Amino acid sequence: MSPELKFPSNFLWGSTTSSYQVEGNINNSDWSQDFPAGQTCNHYQFYGQDFDLAKDLNQNAHRFSIEWSRIEPAPGQFDKKEIEHYRQVLLALKSRGIKTMLTLHHFTNPQWLAEIGGWTNPKVIFCFSRFAKKVFQEYQDLVDFWVTINEPLVYTSLSFLQGRWPPQKRNPILFLKVIKNQIQAHKKIYHLFHRIKSGVQVGLVKNNSFIEPFSQSLLDKLAAQTAHYFINRFFLNKTKNHLDFIGLNYYFHSKVKFPGQIKNDNEIVTDMGWEVYPQGIYYALKDLKNYNLPIYITENGLADKQDKLRKDFIEKHLFWVYQAIQEKVDVKGYFHWSLMDNFEWADGFGPCFGLIEINYQSLARKIRPSAWDYAKICKENQLTI
Ligand code: FCB
Repeated sequence: MSPELKFPSNFLWGSTTSSYQVEGNINNSDWSQDFPAGQTCNHYQFYGQDFDLAKDLNQNAHRFSIEWSRIEPAPGQFDKKEIEHYRQVLLALKSRGIKTMLTLHHFTNPQWLAEIGGWTNPKVIFCFSRFAKKVFQEYQDLVDFWVTINEPLVYTSLSFLQGRWPPQKRNPILFLKVIKNQIQAHKKIYHLFHRIKSGVQVGLVKNNSFIEPFSQSLLDKLAAQTAHYFINRFFLNKTKNHLDFIGLNYYFHSKVKFPGQIKNDNEIVTDMGWEVYPQGIYYALKDLKNYNLPIYITENGLADKQDKLRKDFIEKHLFWVYQAIQEKVDVKGYFHWSLMDNFEWADGFGPCFGLIEINYQSLARKIRPSAWDYAKICKENQLTI
């Protein structure tokens, strides 16, 4: 008989999306001009149908983000129609018995904020908190888990160091300023929400890698330790007293060669060329155990248009999550990236991360076979190997 690996009771099983990637017709954000996503999946209109599919797939939780540029199209002006829209989205999840995790910042900003320097301007702390407060006042009874910022360091690196994402800067000073403002903004919102409502759950989502030295040479070890500190630890060290939980996004394993080159074995890679390395999630979780906080895996997934690797990918990662739980890591949920194919930022519509395939012409949804394997795990709250 094959062993059954039981997950803790009340474990959350779900998937994640973000507004700009799935909603469609977001025309007032800092991505809209240079990286238009058009109608993408038109989830803005079809969210009910999409949540029906999530329910059919036995998911009991959903993580998504709210689009700041819709809610606050001009500084201090809130759009009643859009506020009502997201209320209906949250109610649609609640009425299906699906728990909600809401992200306030998932990479995109309103254009008006970008025009005053975006996250490089310390005013962002005031502006982001004003938006967060409004959203909290509107939806506090409909949201189970609040995420302030998605992958703060991925955002700062791609937007302010590598110049790939808006505002496409390559400036280490701006990079550091943005990180400082992110930390301040997170802490402020954490206090604000806790002042308004006791027992509220506020966290942030970190993309952490499993980082190893390429060789046993002292220099490679030093390079790996430095990378581990800055990529995985620094932001959490600064915010750990202002977190009710940690969200872990795990995608990568990196073998670091001095001074900072990444050289992986890449035996199995996804359509993005990312190495599939399931045991890395175990090491990433074991490392986070040091913070002594509940952990939700808030993203984990792969670009796999043909759906050749996804079943195995999910099972192997969950096997290692299970191992971490056996070793007393307090993992309380797993959200797959993503519920459906979507706009993968600067990489556009090529990479297909969805449990559900999207036909961008007809907008038809088609459940991929691997989604049913994941659905079985969600239903049984166990992995059978
Ligand atoms: C993460 C992002 C998410 C998606 C996946 C593939 O870094 O949070 O929006 O793009 O990568």
